[in-house]
Amino acid sequence: MIVAITGIILILFVIGHLLGNLQIFLGPDWINGYSQHLRDLGPILWIIRIFLLTTVIVHIYVTIRLAIDNRRARPKAYIEKEHVKATFASRHMVMSGLIVLAFIIYHIAHFTVRVTDQRFALLKADPLNHYDVYSMMVYGFQNIYVSSFYVLGLFLLALHLSHGSSSFFQSLGLNNKTLTPRLAFGGRVFAWLLFLGYTSIPIAVLLGLVKPAQQL
Ligand code: HEM
Repeated sequence: MIVAITGIILILFVIGHLLGNLQIFLGPDWINGYSQHLRDLGPILWIIRIFLLTTVIVHIYVTIRLAIDNRRARPKAYIEKEHVKATFASRHMVMSGLIVLAFIIYHIAHFTVRVTDQRFALLKADPLNHYDVYSMMVYGFQNIYVSSFYVLGLFLLALHLSHGSSSFFQSLGLNNKTLTPRLAFGGRVFAWLLFLGYTSIPIAVLLGLVKPAQQL
């Protein structure tokens, strides 16, 4: 139950964050204004950040406890292991989850604290006097290694969600023969749509479709 509820909260964040980020395709005024709005929330933004951080910590703590209990319940490994129903994604939830965590830590250092790229500090405010998040994202993703790491992180996030975004229905007690396979399919479609939505940003930058609003 706890894993399901914290998972739903994190999924809602990932959807909202994607919608916010896709504003890069509408131009600098949109995404810079959006980012400024978030910052103007002041103490409320900090309450949201602390709430999200607590949610992530609880989600990870409970899932790792569950994985350990699972292992303890059968200390001797199976001699023969054949998976009947469990998909690759469902069998590697801890691994994909921990790599996504590493990605999020790097991502916050990159775009929120901005310590991984010295050039971000040189960006001037846009004509509306907002921090130029638009150009920061473009300069960030023009680096092929950075973009590749994002695509890898997003791939693992999609793998994680391709199982997690439907399995929470079962954890909450919703499980029947016709509905469960449909939810599982819907969950996979949802996860890979998120992947396409997020990766469209570094890919558009690498293809030169989105250019910085100011020169450095
Ligand atoms: C191409 C993909 C992504 C882009 C372009 C992107 C963009 C950004 C940007 C620009 C910020 C800083 C916002 C600001 O300071 O105004 C940010 C913060 C953040 N992003 Fe992302 N993001 C991406 C993927 C993700 C994913 C997949 C996750 C989670 C699984 C995520 C989680 C976060 C978190 C937790 C923050 C910190 C929010 C805060 O400042 O409190 N991001 N992202």
